[in-house]
Amino acid sequence: MEFQKLIESRRTVRKYSADSKVTKEQIEELIHAAQEAPSWKNSQTGRYYCVMSDDLTEKIRQNCLPGANNAVKSKHAALIVTAFVHNRAGFQPDGMPDNELGNGWGCYDLGLQNENLVLKAAEMGLGTLIMGIRDADKIRELLEIPETETIVSVIAVGVPAEEPARPKRRELDTIAKFF
Ligand SMILES: Cc1cc2nc3c(=O)[nH]c(=O)nc-3n(C[C@H](O)[C@H](O)[C@H](O)COP(=O)(O)O)c2cc1C
Repeated sequence: MEFQKLIESRRTVRKYSADSKVTKEQIEELIHAAQEAPSWKNSQTGRYYCVMSDDLTEKIRQNCLPGANNAVKSKHAALIVTAFVHNRAGFQPDGMPDNELGNGWGCYDLGLQNENLVLKAAEMGLGTLIMGIRDADKIRELLEIPETETIVSVIAVGVPAEEPARPKRRELDTIAKFF
């Protein structure tokens, strides 16, 4: 798909088909796309915990997605927990932060990766829902994610069962200044 069309047509999908499932190969393709993103000193600190089985997706939806109706919105989708190894991107080898943003850079890098991931999904005809409303402690416990990683979003990936309209974007002059 032409790139401009892809970025304009990608939408957050909150209803997934019960009839077809994403495959492990498809999820791997998404993560390969994510890996192509730039990162601080090429540190590549993003991590992906991909939950495909019915049992475990159900467990996570019921126990770890308590708000925003996210458990319902992500039904029938695979769930990718995204995290980053903290205290590395934005830090010097002696552990000192390079500047005031500290681990903000790890989060920044993960966001770049995740944008690649959701755009790749859109190109493949898959829908995604990035969820910031989630219970990180419960996810950590359930998936045994090490304490050295900060859990960020959970991304639902599935076959769309809706075609959402495009939410309005702000006018350019309200978000950009030219000098
Ligand atoms: C960091 C982040 C967290 C989000 N968390 C949620 C969420 O918990 N639940 C939800 O329904 N949508 C969530 N969204 C989706 C946004 O609401 C959505 O991207 C926005 O309304 C724009 O719509 P679009 O993605 O279709 O362009 C999140 C998006 C981002 C980037």
